Amino acid sequence: MSLAAGQILIEEGGLFDLDAVMQVMGDSFDPAFGEAWTAPQCAGLLPMPGVWLSLARRGGTVAGFALSRVIAGEAELLLLAVKRESQRFGVGRKLLEQFIVSAQRRGAEQLHLEVREGNHAVTLYTEAGFREVGRRKNYYNGRDGKLYDALTLARQAGS
Ligand SMILES: CC(C)(COP(=O)(O)OP(=O)(O)OC[C@H]1O[C@@H](n2cnc3c(N)ncnc32)[C@H](O)[C@@H]1OP(=O)(O)O)[C@@H](O)C(=O)NCCC(=O)NCCS
Repeated sequence: MSLAAGQILIEEGGLFDLDAVMQVMGDSFDPAFGEAWTAPQCAGLLPMPGVWLSLARRGGTVAGFALSRVIAGEAELLLLAVKRESQRFGVGRKLLEQFIVSAQRRGAEQLHLEVREGNHAVTLYTEAGFREVGRRKNYYNGRDGKLYDALTLARQAGS
């Protein structure tokens, strides 16, 4: 099925989508900050209980993904990424909305995630009701030699 250029479709993925996930990973994350995961890291996590992958298709091809995990009523958004050519079209927002709905369906009461301070995604998350609840000082080691804090953001699943 070919999708109209602007249409965004979210579907569940799996280990067999690892190549598509790594293409998005390599295209989206700025290598300056060391935020991207490797293929073995993703492949090791995907089959684990409570982990799920959402893929966003735009124009028929995989434009973005969200990797998430739920454990004992707490859901974590582990990774959210959108290919550069598909950024600022609402793909990230749609994946985040899907994470919230899927986490509720999986019994989560609390949602949380970690993000580098200064990442544009912080705006996206705060618009969706996430608030800072913690901070890891100097967690990310930038190629420029600077250290960046990791923010822990959280919200209730149902709020
Ligand atoms: C963060 C990311 C997933 C956003 O994806 P996206 O599809 O472009 O997001 P959306 O189009 O849904 O944008 C939602 C909002 O986020 C904010 N935002 C996203 N990218 C932005 C940017 N480059 N500059 C400023 N604000 C930005 C805006 O508030 C935007 O709303 P608007 O377009 O109505 O102004 C994407 O930029 C990305 O893949 N970045 C690299 C990977 C990453 O850092 N992921 C987050 C940590 S895991």
